[in-house]
Amino acid sequence: MKLLFLAVFLYLTASHVSASDPSPLQDFCVADNYSKVFVNGKVCKDPKLATANDFFFAGLDKPGNTSNPVGSKVTPVNVMQIAGLNTLGISLARIDFAPGGQNPPHTHPRATEILTVLEGTLYVGFVTSNPENRLISKILNKGDVFVFPVGLIHFQQNVGYSNAVAIAALSSQNPGVITIANAVFGANPPISDVVLAKAFQIDKQLVDKLQASFWMDNN
Ligand SMILES: *[C@@H]1O[C@H](CO)[C@@H](O)[C@H](O)[C@H]1NC(C)=O
Ligand SMILES: *[C@@H]1O[C@H](CO)[C@@H](O)[C@H](O)[C@H]1NC(C)=O
Repeated sequence: MKLLFLAVFLYLTASHVSASDPSPLQDFCVADNYSKVFVNGKVCKDPKLATANDFFFAGLDKPGNTSNPVGSKVTPVNVMQIAGLNTLGISLARIDFAPGGQNPPHTHPRATEILTVLEGTLYVGFVTSNPENRLISKILNKGDVFVFPVGLIHFQQNVGYSNAVAIAALSSQNPGVITIANAVFGANPPISDVVLAKAFQIDKQLVDKLQASFWMDNN
């Protein structure tokens, strides 16, 4: 009976859906990484047991390994890395780019992103919703900041001659990433090539070739 009550309460509190993460109802709710209960977010551990390390991450000074087909690497710092981010609606990532490297077109279903360039030169952009599908893009240099609104497809490409580094802040403890090419052509099990041939207005052979490619996940 207690459990049923808890389930109903959690359902009611979790169903007040907003565009970003729900507001916290206490100072903090450090994720109990061992809980087997599934809720919207993560179950809190006893606040009295929270320590500084629950709010701490080390190592963002270390470059990610960009030796891969897209030439970039995302180092996420979200609720999986910092349990204390649970319910706080914010997270971070470091993105490293080799010369010519890119963070391919992707979306964050749960977060707006604000990106600041620490080193190098990036060509960045996002595309608005149908029917305009307007590309809003810019070349960014060291110290420049750019915003990618929640849910919109966006990308970053290193157009300089040296490595580039950026820090992205995101308005979710768990922004999620959907890399467009991976989701469309690398779906598991695969989306029918009949569907993709019509959607992309290309022949099935090309779809099959794309589906047989390796879709690198840089996250
Ligand atoms: C970077 O990744 C490549 C490809 O996986 C690997 O061969 C290489 O050893 C890695 N470099 C470092 C410094 O970890
Ligand atoms: C929580 O558990 C996941 C999965 O086992 C692990 O990858 C992650 O590092 C853990 N996070 C923390 C903050 O302990």
